[in-house]
Amino acid sequence: MASRNQGLSLAGAAAAIALGGCAPVDTRSSERFEKTGKLIALSGAGAGASNACFTCHGLKGTGDGAGSPRLAGLDAGYLQRQLEAYGDGRRRHTQMSWIARQLSASERKQVAAYYAAMPFSAQTASVDSTPRLYAQGDPSRGIASCASCHGKNGQGLGPANPPLGGQPAAYLEAQLEAWRHGKRRNDPGDVMLRISQLLTPSESAALAVYASNLPGDLLSPGSPEAFLEAHPDGPRSDASGPPLHVPESARATE
Ligand code: HEC
Ligand code: HEC
Repeated sequence: MASRNQGLSLAGAAAAIALGGCAPVDTRSSERFEKTGKLIALSGAGAGASNACFTCHGLKGTGDGAGSPRLAGLDAGYLQRQLEAYGDGRRRHTQMSWIARQLSASERKQVAAYYAAMPFSAQTASVDSTPRLYAQGDPSRGIASCASCHGKNGQGLGPANPPLGGQPAAYLEAQLEAWRHGKRRNDPGDVMLRISQLLTPSESAALAVYASNLPGDLLSPGSPEAFLEAHPDGPRSDASGPPLHVPESARATE
């Protein structure tokens, strides 16, 4: 068994070297792989942000406790071979096959190295809590569910609770950050200020990406094109027209 494993990982290493060009193997290059791999895990690379690996496999690579498996601490060669198999049809799964095909050979290698290096222990074994935190909050820490105010689909509820779905993740994260540091202070009853301070920075980041990818208001009537047609450009939207913003000098002094 041991020799078979070794055979497999040698084959994996040989393939990896072939795929990665003729770069000499050294430890710095494996660190570099892990760094780029992290970017792929968080951004989805060619598969797009909505297919970022962590959205299904969890920020800690623990899987989602359902169909998406744990990747943390698995063998790099094994992970890379799975991605290759999804890519060329030897292993089939609607989402993973498509995702794997969007990654280049070196991206597969990099993201495999990243997850392989990710520590996994019984402590991190609890499944990624992002979707649960969004839908149910964490009563033990006094965190109300985001869904209770922003809606299950991130569509927003009523005039006070804005939609989160469809907002850029970086924007949402920056808002949580701003509240945490008291740089945004216009929320009624300091509700977001308090919530932002109860979340860890990595929870905020994960929630921002999660919320950003929610569908938002599926019932929003009409299309943007129809809206624009029904609201033709007014004379003041002409580029040569006067500026819409009141110039600094014309503002009443406060
Ligand atoms: C939409 C959810 C989703 C996303 C996004 C996703 N995966 Fe998966 N992944 C799955 C599911 C579900 C499976 C199990 C598929 C199966 O049954 O074969 C899986 C399986 C895998 C496996 C096989 C693991 C094993 O133990 O055999 C690897 C490797 C993997 N994914 C890597 C990735 C990488 C890398 C990314 C990002 C580029 C990614 N996945 C993005 C859902 C996802
Ligand atoms: C009790 C209701 C409530 C809960 C629970 C709640 N929010 Fe909010 N959230 C608000 C309100 C109200 C605003 C708008 C604040 C303002 O007017 O400045 C807001 C704004 C935001 C914004 C900024 C949106 C923008 O367009 O600028 C983000 C990001 C956000 N919430 C994330 C979350 C996350 C993540 C959770 C769950 C951990 C959460 N919220 C839970 C009420 C809530």
